[in-house]
Amino acid sequence: MDTEGSPDVYDSLDGQVALVTGATRGIGAAIAAELAALDATVYAGARDTDDVTADDQRSVRLDVTEADAVAAAIDRIEAETGRLDVLVNNAGVFERTGSLAALSMDAFDRTMAVNLRGPVLVTKHALALLLDGEGARVVNVSSDLGQFTGGQMSGSYPAYRLSKVGLGGLTAYLHGGDRGIWRDIRDALAAIDAPTTAEELGIDDDVVIEALTTCHEIRDRYTILGNGMKEAAARDVARKTGVI
Ligand SMILES: NC(=O)c1ccc[n+]([C@@H]2O[C@H](COP(=O)([O-])OP(=O)(O)OC[C@H]3O[C@@H](n4cnc5c(N)ncnc54)[C@H](OP(=O)(O)O)[C@@H]3O)[C@@H](O)[C@H]2O)c1
Repeated sequence: MDTEGSPDVYDSLDGQVALVTGATRGIGAAIAAELAALDATVYAGARDTDDVTADDQRSVRLDVTEADAVAAAIDRIEAETGRLDVLVNNAGVFERTGSLAALSMDAFDRTMAVNLRGPVLVTKHALALLLDGEGARVVNVSSDLGQFTGGQMSGSYPAYRLSKVGLGGLTAYLHGGDRGIWRDIRDALAAIDAPTTAEELGIDDDVVIEALTTCHEIRDRYTILGNGMKEAAARDVARKTGVI
């Protein structure tokens, strides 16, 4: 892959694990090759594993429309490596459908199944493993045909365009969703040297747990903690967020 002019974000991905869907050819094969060249352990998703010939990649059977295959692929990665750092939702189809009036709904369903439902399904299954580690990334391969700007949202290929709009929505969801905007808040606080841990605040871990389990009682009004949380859940969230 010609990477001249592209930013050097990483010198090495040694020790990291990546899964690329639709890695048999085209852009997916190039991404998988580039990740392997950076020494990541690369799982190359393929409907037919014989289509993956690179000997520095591990081919994994992965049709993104099949829930069982997706679950099996993630289970295998977890069993073999115990981690997943990079998920590239690349697999896609592009049926050259006409305008909306002429659109075949079968073509629409096929396109949505691969381009939108597929990434949702794969990400959903991979999420726990991704969130197990620090700094995991999900890369959704979209298209300029999925942009609202630049006069792209009209004319032919409505199925493809709308599938990529949905994929952009998934990306937005992940930014504020299960990854948790708390990381952004923590990082913003850290950037101005504000405390982000109990130790930095100068309080005991137990005070944090007491606050999390009792603060819903302080005022008779709705809080995001609802009816409060149990101590085990409080310790879990405080540990996962690095506060204690
Ligand atoms: N090429 C472009 O100009 C362009 C521009 C913008 C965005 N994109 C996007 O970039 C991505 C890759 O495009 P490309 O041009 O490299 O496409 P491509 O050469 O047609 O390759 C598509 C890949 O997706 C796989 N795939 C298709 N259906 C699948 C399914 N149900 N489950 C798993 N894998 C499946 C294919 O596997 P098989 O080998 O088994 O068919 C193949 O590996 C797509 O998301 C596309 O929308 C492409």
